[in-house]
Amino acid sequence: MTAASDRPRRSALYLPASNAKAIAKARTLPCDVVILDLEDAVAPEMKAQARAAAVAAVLEGDFGNREVAIRVNGLDTEWGADDLAAVAASTADAVLVPKVSSARDIGRYQDALAQAPAAMQLWTMIETCEAVLNLDAIAASAASTRLSLWIMGTNDLAKEMRAQLTPCRTPFLPFLSTAVAAARAHGLAILDGVCNEFRDLDAFEAEARQGLMFGFDGKSLIHPAQIAPCNAVFSPSEADLAWAQAVIEAFEQPENQGKGAIRVDGKMTELLHLEQAKRLIAIAEKIAALG
Ligand code: COA
Ligand code: MG
Repeated sequence: MTAASDRPRRSALYLPASNAKAIAKARTLPCDVVILDLEDAVAPEMKAQARAAAVAAVLEGDFGNREVAIRVNGLDTEWGADDLAAVAASTADAVLVPKVSSARDIGRYQDALAQAPAAMQLWTMIETCEAVLNLDAIAASAASTRLSLWIMGTNDLAKEMRAQLTPCRTPFLPFLSTAVAAARAHGLAILDGVCNEFRDLDAFEAEARQGLMFGFDGKSLIHPAQIAPCNAVFSPSEADLAWAQAVIEAFEQPENQGKGAIRVDGKMTELLHLEQAKRLIAIAEKIAALG
């Protein structure tokens, strides 16, 4: 099994855990991650039913190679403690928690998961103004906790900031790049926020490409139609792989032994590019292994 930190996570589909039909459908969809939501997508009167349905779905399994996370309600809500207890007793791959704002918050969730299986990961949303001002401290807590992945929550961020979530996402760009840098600095995986325009796949693809450009590992999704274009954007392309192969072969040439910088296809290519090339090949192999 691929280590939790470096498995492909091109596409992470949310669905309300209260929707049995959507859960059944998710087992057939080509997303890398399924997120059974108990929070924003579930109405207050359905919270208990959604919790039970999520835990039952994980127990039933049949999600294949997909990683399965349950997004809980926050510990400051009336449902949070029960959600955490139920997920901790389940076999979900990860618990995704909303609205964390500080390293202290991570500690509270770490404690709430004390009895959970050792392999259960802690994932968090980055979706409060306070969180984007505390990115480094939150990410640093990964060293001593289960924290392994962030998902940008751009809808909640827009609400808190009173900013407009336009297609170019201008108000959020500083946070998106800083969050990627903080995640990388501390070895976390990081997924981009959702695109609400689920009927406009051109707009979706443009936003997914923007996320790829920023360095995200993948994107969170709200509708099955977004999966195929998302997987395509976040998979190394034929051109990427041809470049990677050319770089690897060039550094293997006898005349290039011991050199740190060489010319490949008319461009300066350094050992750091060789590392990037090897990473692309490794990602493509892991994607192929998902089947
Ligand atoms: N996961 C799995 N299946 C989904 C799905 C999802 N996120 N969204 C829609 N589907 C299914 C529908 O059940 C339907 O199945 P059917 O053909 O077997 O009946 C099919 O895909 C087509 O759905 P469609 O009619 O296009 O969408 P809708 O109008 O029924 O629902 C949403 C639109 C946005 C309400 C729905 O996609 C949704 O609930 N998305 C997730 C919302 C969420 O989890 N938000 C929290 C995180 S931001
Ligand atoms: Mg939210």
